Amino acid sequence: MAIQTYGTVLKNVRIKSSYFLMEIDCPSIANETRPGQFLMLQISENTHPLLRRPFSIYKSYPTWHSEKRKKGHLFLLYKKVGKGTEKMTFFLKGEKVNLIGPLGNGFTLPPLPSPAPSILIGGGVGMAALASLGQALHSGELYLFIGGKTKEDILCEGDFLTGKSANLFIATEDGSRGKKGMVVDLFRDEIKRFNINLPYHVYICGPEGMLKAVSKIIKSNVWNVQVSIEARMGCGFGACWGCVVKTRDAEIPYHRVCKDGPVFPLSEIVWD
Ligand SMILES: Cc1cc2nc3c(=O)[nH]c(=O)nc-3n(C[C@H](O)[C@H](O)[C@H](O)COP(=O)(O)OP(=O)(O)OC[C@H]3O[C@@H](n4cnc5c(N)ncnc54)[C@H](O)[C@@H]3O)c2cc1C
Ligand code: FES
Repeated sequence: MAIQTYGTVLKNVRIKSSYFLMEIDCPSIANETRPGQFLMLQISENTHPLLRRPFSIYKSYPTWHSEKRKKGHLFLLYKKVGKGTEKMTFFLKGEKVNLIGPLGNGFTLPPLPSPAPSILIGGGVGMAALASLGQALHSGELYLFIGGKTKEDILCEGDFLTGKSANLFIATEDGSRGKKGMVVDLFRDEIKRFNINLPYHVYICGPEGMLKAVSKIIKSNVWNVQVSIEARMGCGFGACWGCVVKTRDAEIPYHRVCKDGPVFPLSEIVWD
């Protein structure tokens, strides 16, 4: 269940270009988080900006985790894009930060043991939602497609390369890393290697254009495809209906990304 609480900033550092990593001591949220969930972070005690901002919980370590130094800690991986995220870059070690979380449904993990391969497709900071999922997938082969505008936008590959054999595919629009072009085009080129009749698990997170484009490429109706959607959010917990997405649900066509998602079966979404 989501709670509102204070966490303590332990670390807040630039990892490259506009990307930052924040480590927060917050056991009550860390103990409850599942892969693909997010939190709403209060940027400021005053009204600038008024609204909290949503961030995927990039990593969380419950208090019973074996990594002693990280027990009870949360990690956010964020990109400085506007006034809120710019203010976040000035959060100092020891500062208290007001959080609501964990929020949203998160990804549905395959039943154990699941020999079916998993395909993860992420663009830019969308990788923050996929990293904890990658660590939670204990079995089966892993295919990872990461895209970005330049090599500076290729994030989190190291999170997938420890302890398991991930097949890594990278694309950048300027060709500075991996194949030149969009990650969607790379996925289209590589899709021949996958059997459309096997029950693959596919998880996608990135900008809406990328999600739409991937949805047009995937033709299999036995693949279990989940997309994590990023919408502008007001409250983050279902009250304002400011974050809706159109679905194929005949009774209630609009679903709230914050409460009903952010993860949806690809087949449910109506892309305009
Ligand atoms: C469920 C969810 C998880 C997210 N996880 C992460 C994460 O892990 N790391 C991360 O860096 N960002 C994440 N985001 C996006 C993040 O919330 C926004 O970048 C942030 O709110 C921008 O705040 P700002 O005040 O800096 O920008 P603003 O000044 O509000 O806006 C600056 C620019 O960013 C665009 N923008 C703002 N919010 C969004 C959004 N939600 N989707 C698309 N474009 C947006 C605006 O249109 C504008 O062009 C997530 C969003 C959602 C909904
Ligand atoms: S942000 Fe308010 S209902 Fe989703």
